[in-house]
Amino acid sequence: MKMAASPAGIAQHIEAFKKIVGEDFVFVDEESLNNYAHDETENLHFLPEVVVKPRTAAEISALLTICNKERIPVTPRGAGTGLSGGALPHLGGVLLSTERMNTILEIDERNLQVTTEPGVITEVLQDAVKEKKLFYPPDPSSRGSCFIGGNIAENSGGPKAVKYGVVKDYVLNLEVVLPSGEIIWTGSNVLKNSTGYNLTQLMVGSEGTLGIVTKIVLRLIPLPAYDVLMLVPFKNLEQAGEAVSAIFRAGFVPSALELVEIDALKIVSKFVDSTAVPVTDDTAAHLIIEVDGNNRDVLMGEMEAIADLLTQYDIGEIYFADDAQQKAELWKLRRRVAEAVKLIGYTIEEDTVVPRAELPKLIRGVKELGSKHNFEVVCYGHAGDGNLHIRIRKQGIPNSYENEEMNKILRELFLLVKSIGGTISGEHGIGLIQKPYMDIVFRDANLRLMRGIKKAFDPNNILNAGKIFD
Ligand code: LAC
Ligand code: ZN
Repeated sequence: MKMAASPAGIAQHIEAFKKIVGEDFVFVDEESLNNYAHDETENLHFLPEVVVKPRTAAEISALLTICNKERIPVTPRGAGTGLSGGALPHLGGVLLSTERMNTILEIDERNLQVTTEPGVITEVLQDAVKEKKLFYPPDPSSRGSCFIGGNIAENSGGPKAVKYGVVKDYVLNLEVVLPSGEIIWTGSNVLKNSTGYNLTQLMVGSEGTLGIVTKIVLRLIPLPAYDVLMLVPFKNLEQAGEAVSAIFRAGFVPSALELVEIDALKIVSKFVDSTAVPVTDDTAAHLIIEVDGNNRDVLMGEMEAIADLLTQYDIGEIYFADDAQQKAELWKLRRRVAEAVKLIGYTIEEDTVVPRAELPKLIRGVKELGSKHNFEVVCYGHAGDGNLHIRIRKQGIPNSYENEEMNKILRELFLLVKSIGGTISGEHGIGLIQKPYMDIVFRDANLRLMRGIKKAFDPNNILNAGKIFD
């Protein structure tokens, strides 16, 4: 598919953009352009030609109508916390930020639903519904800064996904501005829907390539009253992986089951200056295990039973996080791993996912690859989902997706993932940086269908062109 051509002079449209969104919300100064030139992916940097901050769907519709007619590339952006380059304006053009669309429109307590604009910070939304004893579970590590709209674009997950599912499991209906400027609702605010193709779910995870989401209706669930958290040190990394599926086989469904390899823990502990988790020399990894529900005694019993089950492995002393502060400290350590390891050069992050019971194979394979190609690797992530984030760095080469040697390593990694039944992204999306590897997991026919869908929505290829596939 051809890329939308960046026009000779976007300058001639600036006045029109200003008329649509207001003088104060169109930016062409260097500082503003720089602020929107990067996200959390590696250290990539692409300058947009103009940053536009609309407030309403009608404004976005008017903007897209011009861009569609003039074939101007448009990159939609939430909070810019993405890890696959989805919000990077690699073709220049218009960077369309949804940051002003930040109102929670309605919490419908009768139907357990919330309607929100896309620029609301995920944690703000979670806290707002929590006040009504309601729960929106998907909780990416960046939930304190990412936008709910970006979460829809990437079909985000997070630790709670293991029990509660990911974003797609909560989205009921979306208002979307199409590249043509038309505004549609994709579905209905109902819990069941067999009415034609599921455009709602098609939008979820489409990484801003099909339309711009302007309103979101989410299903909520009652807020569980209690959670209990424990940290289990394992002396052997593969055994930690094995224990994960053993927990489910024994009949437990934790509300979080995370793995953090010891090197990642050491790095993040230093980064946030925390001594909450004692780091002993014989520990290879920790499992963070949480259960939640409405009966505290039942939860304590479950935790004890899980702890008993884990004594068959070579584990150290289990640490129970008793109070809210201890729990918060543990979660802070877990959530900030990505940031901490990136800072010391682990700029390549992968988001591999395999069937849960194959986790030990993935771990073993990754470590073998590391020895073979002489790179350093740290693993952490949502072990309960078989979703492991793999951060790598290699001395002597630029740790960049643009580096050929790094590409070779990644291709081998993804072939391994595929060979054990997995795929290349569980929750971060394909964006700009994973698209060279799509051939590993899809046949031509799959990609042809995806391109056909893109064409049906965006025949002029103006919207986030060159993301997911070329
Ligand atoms: C995490 C993000 C990187 O799990 O997905 O920390
Ligand atoms: Zn994650």
